Amino acid sequence: IEVDDFDLVVFGGTGDLAHRKLLPALYHRDLDGQLPAGARIIVTSRREFTHDEYQAWAEGALGEHVKDLEPAAVKRFLARLTYIAIDVAAEAGWADLGKILNARPNVIRAFYLAVAPDFFGTICDGIGRHNLVTSKTRVVIEKPIGKDGKSAQALNETIGKVFKEHQIFRIDHYLGKETVQNLMALRFANALFEPLWNAAHIDHVQITVAESLGVGGRAGYYDTAGALRDMVQNHILQLLCLVAMEPPESMNADSVRDEKLKVLKALAPITPELAEKHIVRGQYKAGASDGGAVPGYLDELGRDDSLTETFVAIKAQIANWRWAGVPFYLRTGKRLATRVSEIVVQFRPIPHSIFGPEAGVISANRLIIRLQPDEGVKMQVMIKDPGPGGMRLRQVPLDMSFADAFKVRNPDAYERLIMDVIRGNQTLFMRRDEVDAAWAWVDPILEIWAAAKDQPKAYTSGTWGPSASIALIERDGRTWAEDG
Ligand code: BG6
Repeated sequence: IEVDDFDLVVFGGTGDLAHRKLLPALYHRDLDGQLPAGARIIVTSRREFTHDEYQAWAEGALGEHVKDLEPAAVKRFLARLTYIAIDVAAEAGWADLGKILNARPNVIRAFYLAVAPDFFGTICDGIGRHNLVTSKTRVVIEKPIGKDGKSAQALNETIGKVFKEHQIFRIDHYLGKETVQNLMALRFANALFEPLWNAAHIDHVQITVAESLGVGGRAGYYDTAGALRDMVQNHILQLLCLVAMEPPESMNADSVRDEKLKVLKALAPITPELAEKHIVRGQYKAGASDGGAVPGYLDELGRDDSLTETFVAIKAQIANWRWAGVPFYLRTGKRLATRVSEIVVQFRPIPHSIFGPEAGVISANRLIIRLQPDEGVKMQVMIKDPGPGGMRLRQVPLDMSFADAFKVRNPDAYERLIMDVIRGNQTLFMRRDEVDAAWAWVDPILEIWAAAKDQPKAYTSGTWGPSASIALIERDGRTWAEDG
C-alpha cells in the first residue's frame, strides 16, 4: 500500500548508514510500489557533491548492497534524490533546504539524523531556527542515545526543545526485524503459548546476539561504548521486554510501550555482589574466525590499556509475579564462534515420567525464536521413535523456517521502520521513559565496572566467549543452547 506523499531529509547522507541501510531500504520500498510519485528524498552532508556526483555515489551504494538491481527501478529511485551540501553549524545550506521544503508545507516531513549524536543538538537547533517543523513533521534518531542515563537525558532535552515526544522516533533496528515482530504474533495471536508463559511453566529464557565479526574500523567509537552500551542497553533489553511483557491492550504505540516500560522497571537492580556472580565481561584476543586468522581487540584498537568489553553475559531477573525466579540469561559479543541471534524459551521438565529407562532422556520443551540468520521458529518436542522397536523417545523440532514457508525476500528492518516513520506509527520505536528505564538498570553495572577497574576476561576469537560465561549458566544446572 502506498504511503502518503512525503519529504524525507537525511542528515549524514554520505555516511555509512545511508550507504548500507537507508538508501537500499528506500530503494526496496520504491521497487515494491510503496513510494508515491510525490515522495522526495533530500540528502545532505557537509561534502560538496554536485548532483551528478551524489547520484553516482547513491548508485554505488545500491550496487553494493542490493541484489538483482532493476535498472528502470534504479533510475526512478535516483530521480527522487536531491543533494544539498549543508554545514549544519553554518547558515548557507539551511536556506536551500528551507526553500525545497517550504514548496510543499503540507506533506509529511521527516528528518533522519544519521549522524553522530554530537550533532543532534546543532541539527535540531537549525531545524527550529529555520522554522522547518510543521504539524506533520517527525524526527528520527539513531543510537547511541547517550552513554549513560544522564547524558541520555541531556540529549532528549535537546531534541525535546524542538520536537514533541509524538514527533520523535528513536530507532532500535532490532524492533524492525521480521522475527522480532513475529514474537508478538506468536505470543498474542495464538492461544497456545500465553497460558504457559510464566514462572509456573518456563524454567528460564536465553537471549543470545552473537556476532562473528570484530569491531574492525569502528574501534574508535566502540572503545567508548563496549558491548553493554552497544547491544544490551538497547537491542537485548528490547528483546527481553517483548518476551516478558504483559499482553498490551492493543498494538497502539503507547499500549505496547507502557507494557515494555513496566518490564524495564521490574528488572532486579544489579548490586556489586550480584555483578560478581551474575555478570561476565570479556574481550577478544587473536584467533581464527570466518576461516582465517584475526587480530585481537587491542591490536585493532592500537592500544593495550583498554578495559572495554567486547562480550558480556548477564543473568538478569524480573521481579514481578509472572517471572519471579525465572532467570533471563543474556549474552552478546563480537568475534564469537558464529553469527546467530536467538531467543530460547526453555520450559520446565515434565513432572513425572511414565516411561521406563529404555525410553531414553526426556528433554524439556524448548521454543527457539531465531532472528538471524535463517529466521524462523522452532519448537522442540518429544516423540516416539518410529518403528516397532519399543517405546524409544526422541526430541525433534517442529520447525518453521520463514524462507521455506514463505519464499519471499526477508525485508531489512529499516524498510519497515522508515515506512512506520512516514505513517507516524511509533509502536516499534522507543519512548523516552523506556530509554531512561533501560539506563537506570545499566548505569549501576557501568559504575561497578568503573570502580573495579579490572580487566575483562580474555577469550579467543572464534569461540563462545570466556569460559566463565559457560560456568555462569552451568552453575545453575543449565546450558547455553548455541546449537539450536
Ligand atoms: C548495532 C551495533 O546497533 O547493531 C553494532 O552498534 C552491531 O555493533 C549491530 O554489529 C548488529 O546489528 P545486526 O542487525 O547486524 O544484528
